[in-house]
Amino acid sequence: MGRLDARTKRQREGKAFLPLKGQKGHTVLILDLSLSGAFLKGNLPAEKGPITLQFTGKERSLSLKGVIVRNEEGGRAIRFLCRNREEVSDLWSVIRDDLEGERPQRCLYCGRDLPEEECPHCGLSHGFGHEDYLPEHLKRTVYQRLRWRLERLNPDRLLALIAFVDAQLLRELDAAEEDEEFAGTCESMLKVFSLIREVAPTDIPVLILGESGTGKELTAKAIHERSQRHNKPFVVINCAAIPEALLEAELFGYERGAFTGAYTARKGKVEQAHGGTLFLDEIGDLSVGLQAKILRFLEDGTVERIGSRKPRRTNVRIIAATNRDLEEEVKRGGFRQDLFFRLNAFTIQLPPLRERGKDKVVLANYFLKKLCKENGAEQKHFSEEALAAIGSYRWPGNVREMINKIRRALVVSKGNALTPDDLSLESPAGEPSPSGIKALREKIERENLLKALEKTGYNISRTAKLLGISRPTVYNLMRRYGIS
Ligand SMILES: Nc1ncnc2c1ncn2[C@@H]1O[C@H](COP(=O)(O)OP(=O)(O)OP(=O)(O)O)[C@@H](O)[C@H]1O
Ligand SMILES: [Mg+2]
Repeated sequence: MGRLDARTKRQREGKAFLPLKGQKGHTVLILDLSLSGAFLKGNLPAEKGPITLQFTGKERSLSLKGVIVRNEEGGRAIRFLCRNREEVSDLWSVIRDDLEGERPQRCLYCGRDLPEEECPHCGLSHGFGHEDYLPEHLKRTVYQRLRWRLERLNPDRLLALIAFVDAQLLRELDAAEEDEEFAGTCESMLKVFSLIREVAPTDIPVLILGESGTGKELTAKAIHERSQRHNKPFVVINCAAIPEALLEAELFGYERGAFTGAYTARKGKVEQAHGGTLFLDEIGDLSVGLQAKILRFLEDGTVERIGSRKPRRTNVRIIAATNRDLEEEVKRGGFRQDLFFRLNAFTIQLPPLRERGKDKVVLANYFLKKLCKENGAEQKHFSEEALAAIGSYRWPGNVREMINKIRRALVVSKGNALTPDDLSLESPAGEPSPSGIKALREKIERENLLKALEKTGYNISRTAKLLGISRPTVYNLMRRYGIS
């Protein structure tokens, strides 16, 4: 078999960036372009290595990461790496436009005679205009693509990869039996799940930000469980809950006799997490003294137990979380900038529950079902009013508050349908408070706005249309009533 992907020979200008050679891009001429790679002419270095190619596609500009794989007289051949679905389909729309039209005489893949759309020799199709061409083509060539990449891996990496794939398959089997633990369907949570999947297999430190009760610890666990470290320890340390004097001993451990009461030597949390993941919860509360010590450990991967001078090497992946605004803390001088940069290699921001649109109701139903099952109780449901109240309440305590409110409601409810009262939520359709016309008007205005937003899935244009007001007015009202 010759090529895997048809290429276009239409020339276009682009920019190539080499990671270690500064930020300035090299202007290049793209002589040919396919889904797998490109051939570039321009003032590029001879050595093989990573490269980012940027050029303007049909509707937007593309930025594709790859490696220089061949160095030829006329230029450099590059192979694209690790693209997501969106990038592939953007790239394909550029190539397809050039290829569509008359069927070539010879197969664009194997070079032999092409009597019909599908090559009788290599089996690949030339029906570039078909809507399902791209997914079909990728499906047909997936094994070959995988084989080419596997041939470049050494046996150790290959084994690690097999272990990782096995872990993913096992998770799928487990998930089929258990309820999914991390629930969410709104766009911002789908983004969070995709970030988790993206960062989990790497060893990059992750910083998780979000208000209290938004699922920071759950996110840290999800990253650990999807990583190659999943069968090694996941160790949590809450930097805010332990007095500073004890925290150092907790983190780094101590030798026998290091201080009064140290009758035996003890490993710290960092050593306990060896091979696995250390979750530094509430990192924003860490004292400046300990920040320096954590930084030292992050820099060289060694710890010294209290009372010992012997550095011990550890292999630990760090995930940190806080509900504080760390950047602000850095500005104020309460958090070291160098530590912030170290931890901030990859950030996941969890949205507050009030900003998760329909997910409020999705999550409430999910927890209700789960809690009834756990209690072995009859399955209950929410009344219409309760669902409306869940949708309009601001949930300052986020998901944790929701779980607690539902748990309480299950204890106090009389019937099968949980009411806003059971949940200690004010019914949006309840009696108005006698606090004057203005308050009443505001209450109705807010409720209507929320209902319209819920109904349109927080689409501002459709909300404006539904309420018969302008989009700026919708934004103004949302700001006034603290809806985001
Ligand atoms: N999307 C979700 N799906 C299912 N359960 C969730 C979700 N988000 C949070 N939870 C649950 O809500 C509770 C609070 O989550 P977690 O402890 O991870 O939040 P947190 O951000 O670490 O809170 P805090 O800042 O108060 O420590 C946990 O019981 C967790 O399992
Ligand atoms: Mg937490």
